[in-house]
Amino acid sequence: MTAVRLADYRPAPYLLGRTDLTVRLWADHAEVEAELAFSPNPAAAEQGPAPLKLAGIDLTLEALAIDGRPLDPAHYTLERDGLILHQPPQSPFVLHSRVRLHPHSNTTLEGLYVSGGLFTTQCEAEGFRRITFHPDRPDLLSRFRVRIEAEQASCPVLLCNGNCLETGVLERGRHYAIWDDPFPKPSYLFALVAGVLEEAREPFETASGRPVQLRLHVEPGDLPFTTHAMTSLKRAMRWDEERYGLEYDLDEYNIVAVRHFNMGAMENKSLNIFNSKLVLADSETATDGELERIESVIAHEYFHNWTGNRITCRDWFQLSLKEGLTVFRDQSFTADLHGASLNRIENVGLLRNTQFREDAGPTAHPVQPDAYEVIDNFYTTTIYEKGSEVIRMLHTLLGEKTFMNGMALYVSRHDGSAATCDDFVQAMDDAAREAWSGRPAAFDFGQFRRWYHQAGTPVLQIQRHWNGERGELTLHIQQHTPATPCQPHKQPLVIPLAMGLVGQGGEALPLHAAQARQLPPQWGHHSQLVVIDQAETELRFTGLPQQHHPPALSLLRQFSAPVKLELGRPVAELVHLLAHDSDPVARWDAGQLLLRRGILARSQGEPDQQLEEELADAFARILADPSLSQASRAMLLSLPGQAELEDAASNGDLSPDPPALFAAAQALRRHLGEVLEEPLLQLLEACEPQWTAIWPQGQGDRRLTGLIWSWRAAAADAGVIDQARQAVDGPSMTLARLGLSALQCHDLPQRQAASDAFFARWQHKPVILDTWFALEAAAPFGDGLARVQRLLEHPRYDPNAPNSVRAVLGGLAGNAPVFHAPGGAGYRFMAEQIAALDQRNPITASRLAKVLSRWRSYGSERSDQMRAALEHLDSCKLSTNTREMVELSLSQ
Ligand code: PHE
Ligand code: ZN
Repeated sequence: MTAVRLADYRPAPYLLGRTDLTVRLWADHAEVEAELAFSPNPAAAEQGPAPLKLAGIDLTLEALAIDGRPLDPAHYTLERDGLILHQPPQSPFVLHSRVRLHPHSNTTLEGLYVSGGLFTTQCEAEGFRRITFHPDRPDLLSRFRVRIEAEQASCPVLLCNGNCLETGVLERGRHYAIWDDPFPKPSYLFALVAGVLEEAREPFETASGRPVQLRLHVEPGDLPFTTHAMTSLKRAMRWDEERYGLEYDLDEYNIVAVRHFNMGAMENKSLNIFNSKLVLADSETATDGELERIESVIAHEYFHNWTGNRITCRDWFQLSLKEGLTVFRDQSFTADLHGASLNRIENVGLLRNTQFREDAGPTAHPVQPDAYEVIDNFYTTTIYEKGSEVIRMLHTLLGEKTFMNGMALYVSRHDGSAATCDDFVQAMDDAAREAWSGRPAAFDFGQFRRWYHQAGTPVLQIQRHWNGERGELTLHIQQHTPATPCQPHKQPLVIPLAMGLVGQGGEALPLHAAQARQLPPQWGHHSQLVVIDQAETELRFTGLPQQHHPPALSLLRQFSAPVKLELGRPVAELVHLLAHDSDPVARWDAGQLLLRRGILARSQGEPDQQLEEELADAFARILADPSLSQASRAMLLSLPGQAELEDAASNGDLSPDPPALFAAAQALRRHLGEVLEEPLLQLLEACEPQWTAIWPQGQGDRRLTGLIWSWRAAAADAGVIDQARQAVDGPSMTLARLGLSALQCHDLPQRQAASDAFFARWQHKPVILDTWFALEAAAPFGDGLARVQRLLEHPRYDPNAPNSVRAVLGGLAGNAPVFHAPGGAGYRFMAEQIAALDQRNPITASRLAKVLSRWRSYGSERSDQMRAALEHLDSCKLSTNTREMVELSLSQ
């Protein structure tokens, strides 16, 4: 396999002005005619006349001509993955081609394919080359005009990007539509849909008065489930106008929901295509979490219209330019709508359990990678979530106003073109320069850029010296980033550290230090920002109360940087922070640290009784604290995720024992459920009146209900077990699912009954049934592999729907006791499934293959077995996608 390198980037030798397509859809194939208007690129002129390379995969070439003259076969070479024109004209010319393709048998879900009778496309990153021969590179923006022809009966709706110019009837029951997109775009943003669809339509008027038709297309029968998505879209459009001053730019905006889709959703210009699970929903069929996720993904794709489409990426190394920024924007949107702290806490949890894990394994890579083999493998949590953290740090360091000036500069400079991550940082740099004029720079932008190039999660090691007589606190801070594949040595980064001190009475202490800067009040009381940019830093805070114990140290408020902290704060200090920290994120994190310690101790067979007692007391106070919302209570009491526990357990020579950690977490739930019985049951009653309130109302009460159910079910509370069982028959999907998860770990007749009832009720709704598949696959008892095997053979299981595959195989991977059971059968099973899946859908297979990548981090026996499973996979016939993942995992 050959790597693509950032260092090899060259401008395209030929510019592309127009991409004109005629797409004819038939019952068993499709035909695509393309007219591509090329001209030599003056920016590449020094290199002299170059051949023209067009990418093309699984296409049968039927005709090829330049300016109307058929091309002599001697003048081009047809290869497995494209076409090379040896001596194209050195003046503008039109290349005409006609190809035949087979969307009906395309199970890769890339290019043009059929999902449930619907013709649909997916082009990002390199799917357009499965539709026609084309340069298919993101820095070539062209105007698209597309004529679609299809049978009227099976394809009454014909959609493409831009505006529909014309429709008409053809012979033999066929018809056509012509679409024109006035905005030049890269080929990865092309989309086409044809089939039987029902439509929800609503008008929208932009801030400047442009009328826009919002159209949501779904399979017949699904119209009742489109209201939430439509409302979300309108909210997102308004928000982008109000917060970023960015308006929509076309006459219509289409969203199509499809069942078979590799990812969540896709931002194709004016024709978003969505995984149907991210569109179809109401409170009876979707949980609170799903409703919020749908709202945020609708917003994410909409926000791409500016950050991604109007300004696109020069090459795929710049992927985080659009993804990191757009994730940052969608997170801000959700924070504005539903509360910043809860949203932040959820995102921090996600980052720790996915991105930190990626950073610590063989697939670690920088936010801007410098080489890849298969770009599909780079749609990672590092590109998305860490990319967003990097933007958030810029926002923190610059402040809202300067950040927004930088955004405006970025948009005005690069609108209508393909940009780089560096262009974005440069715009921020220039805005900062202006804001700081005459003053010293607050940090060095050149050094900040290292965040884009250096992989791995930085660690801050902190030592504290407290001089109680003088009321003086000194922090000695060392930063280092562990080595990652290909990057053995790391340099110091610019790390914004938000912090505060909490006094003995729980009050926020004002603090002063030469290097610190006061943060606005939403950061908690008396929060200070310190920029850590050296390998070693010393901070001195003076004028603090003269007392024996140091004030409690609240660090990384709002999780101001994607780093890990190492400092041994005593239990009492963490308990104090958990009770009083004015920053909700740091407050939550203090509890997380205590929980982590408690679970780790239990997993090693030595429960820390004192810690657990203090924790239970602290939780009792939280449950009783009238100033807290139910949502905050639920958040503060939630246990850390399995990935995070494994990470915490792999310090030094210790390697994590996933089933032991899983059991320890469950045992701690049971313990807390027992000792907190009274307050928990009281709160359960208090939550009940809100159970059926419509989202977002009542979501905190439902979340807390779920937590109480799972703790009390672990403590074998018959009343709660019954309640959880009944929820499956009730009107709220959120409660139904919380009931199922509360029963999930217990091999009880009530669990079986709940699962059967859920299946019976939803068996005809695939989107909902996937959650049943996932729960069954993740049940941590009995013969787990046999159960998974039965699920894979279940008549309702659709092996071509990535959602179903991820439900079952992802459910198994998250089922610590079964997947990691002694003997390694779980690993072998997974490897065989991945090999089989890879034959149908390489993108989904290689994403799944990551679950085997971290074999080195487990103890010797597991590690050998997992490696053996990977080696088995390596010996199979694999796609380049999956091969890259497997080889990466084995070689590091
Ligand atoms: N660009 C999409 C998004 O983040 C994700 C995606 C990538 C979808 C590749 C399909 C294929 O919004
Ligand atoms: Zn995106």
